[in-house]
Amino acid sequence: MNGAATAAGAFARRFGSAPEGVWAAPGRVNVIGEHTDYNGGHVLPIALPRTTRAAVGRRDDGRLVLRSLQHPDADADVALPDLRPGTPPGWAGYVAGVVHQVAGSVPGGLSILVDGDVPEGAGLSSSAALACAVALAVRDLLHLDLAPGDLVDVARRAENDFVGAPTGILDQSASLLCVEGHALLLDTRDRSSEQVPFDLTAAGLALLVLDTGTTHDHAASGYGDRRRECEEAAARLGVGLLREVPDVAALDVLADGSAEGDRLHRRARHVLTEEDRVHRVVSVLRSGADPRSIGPLLTEGHASLREDFAVSVPLLDACVEAAVAAGAHGARMVGGGFGGSAIALVDAGAVDAVTAAVADRFARESAAAPRVLSAVPSAGARRLA
Ligand code: GLA
Repeated sequence: MNGAATAAGAFARRFGSAPEGVWAAPGRVNVIGEHTDYNGGHVLPIALPRTTRAAVGRRDDGRLVLRSLQHPDADADVALPDLRPGTPPGWAGYVAGVVHQVAGSVPGGLSILVDGDVPEGAGLSSSAALACAVALAVRDLLHLDLAPGDLVDVARRAENDFVGAPTGILDQSASLLCVEGHALLLDTRDRSSEQVPFDLTAAGLALLVLDTGTTHDHAASGYGDRRRECEEAAARLGVGLLREVPDVAALDVLADGSAEGDRLHRRARHVLTEEDRVHRVVSVLRSGADPRSIGPLLTEGHASLREDFAVSVPLLDACVEAAVAAGAHGARMVGGGFGGSAIALVDAGAVDAVTAAVADRFARESAAAPRVLSAVPSAGARRLA
């Protein structure tokens, strides 16, 4: 049974009638451009083949009734006027955060059944996939006049304002705007974007996602600290966003000999060098040169996230090190950091060897072997049925 039929069937069993439609939105990995989005820089994500599906139907009792096949013990049933941050809690908050924003347009309530296969807590944006699937569903079902960029904001606000996770727009943009066979080059300052062809299979390559199984939690982790550090660095440099700093040399004034100055200097240096790496990766992909040559830029990006931005963890470092030692062209942690997944660019014929080498390294670190997915650049959010 396909994803739409499974979600529709589960909806019918839960709510006693067929849904009015089923929508899907994917998780993402970012090829390069980490922690640049809230600094006004560029990002280059691809959508994963893994999606979250939302089967949706209208109801007439003024309630939002939610069920997730991944959280069968955490149904939610809330009157629309009672929606507020924290109500309902947990996974349902991402859905409620979207519905809350359009509650004035919801005639009598909504029933929503969620199913999906984006791993949670792996840094692959399962939360954005959920919010985006629901945002697209309510847009279509309620005939709301929302352009794709507006949907990005609806989904982001659900996370930022309702759930309290201070994300940028990377994840929601990737989930809503990505196109199969392409990476999305997005300028997060003016929101312009370009689809950059990224055909790994034709090049005999695979982009592995290695989920370390260590969890991350943006709301409670150092993500917010990094944002504040970037804002402080920008303020000291007299710019609104770090993106506006012309070059790395202009950051020297931050290093005033104090520990804090040194820290802000390193944080800002990551943002500027990462922005440069995005452009270097994009020029390789645009030029039609062998995509293997982006590998070292990925590994360089990891070193910068580890040393300058300090968002990696030892298991992610071990993962990257082992993958590269086993022949990956490049590897790096992805997402916000403090756990989650790494990516490794490998020859199709080397997938097994690299996977085995990483598993072996993890065993030596007394960690369970990572879950491995193949990141084929896939389609963004869409209606399935
Ligand atoms: C998380 C956030 C994104 C982005 C990345 C880091 O995934 O949700 O907005 O900041 O971290 O690049």
